[in-house]
Amino acid sequence: MAIVPNKALPPTTVVDWDRSDNYHNSHLLQKDQALEFTVQNSEANGLPDIAVSPAQGKFLSLLAKSIGAKRILEVGTLGGYSSIHLARALPDDGKLVTLELKEHHAKIATENITKAGVVSKVNVIIGPALASLQKMASEPKFDFVFIDADATNLLNYFTESKRLVRKGGVIVVDNVVQNGCVGNPADTSERAAGVRKLISALKDDDEVEATTIGTAGEKGYDGFLYAIRK
Ligand SMILES: C[S@@+](CC[C@H](N)C(=O)[O-])C[C@H]1O[C@@H](n2cnc3c(N)ncnc32)[C@H](O)[C@@H]1O
Repeated sequence: MAIVPNKALPPTTVVDWDRSDNYHNSHLLQKDQALEFTVQNSEANGLPDIAVSPAQGKFLSLLAKSIGAKRILEVGTLGGYSSIHLARALPDDGKLVTLELKEHHAKIATENITKAGVVSKVNVIIGPALASLQKMASEPKFDFVFIDADATNLLNYFTESKRLVRKGGVIVVDNVVQNGCVGNPADTSERAAGVRKLISALKDDDEVEATTIGTAGEKGYDGFLYAIRK
């Protein structure tokens, strides 16, 4: 419940969201050498700064843990920052399969995942994610899917994820708000169009129940789609 109607307040900017993330993180998140190494090693090796934020990574980990996920699928590895969070949610015999187009990203991710001590639970698959997904057997099912790659293929990734996730399993999609661009018909970017294609398909999709939750933080204003497979 909003205590103060937000529309009555002055607008905030990324400076406020960044300060707010820092405040909450300073109380709720532990210092984490493996994740700090991941950020530094990814930057040193030229990877773009487009991983989820520390709070978002922890949130994904908590979501996966809260459904007792034993098998997790990730689309879009980058340097393995979110992969490490997700792998940590798994029990010792759990498995994270993460899909990445670029060999260089996968190499750095493997270094980071190894440094974090979770490499035994992680399988990084290199190649176009859609082809990798289409090759995957429908069994055993995944409990949790995190989609965070190119928006052009989003609907295809989501469709394959529905095939691969168990009933009651969860599919989370990142970057579905994009600073409000997705909901702005004047925006003509391919990135926003890819998300709109997914969102409009979900209108008549009776195989999932879904909602979008906006996020504002150190990485800007964006949002996650959260869907449960029926
Ligand atoms: C936003 S980053 C992933 C960030 C990561 N999930 C995290 O939070 O740490 C997107 C990644 O998807 C990869 N990617 C883009 N297109 C892809 C495709 N067609 N197949 C597989 N991976 C792709 C990019 O190379 C990039 O590493």
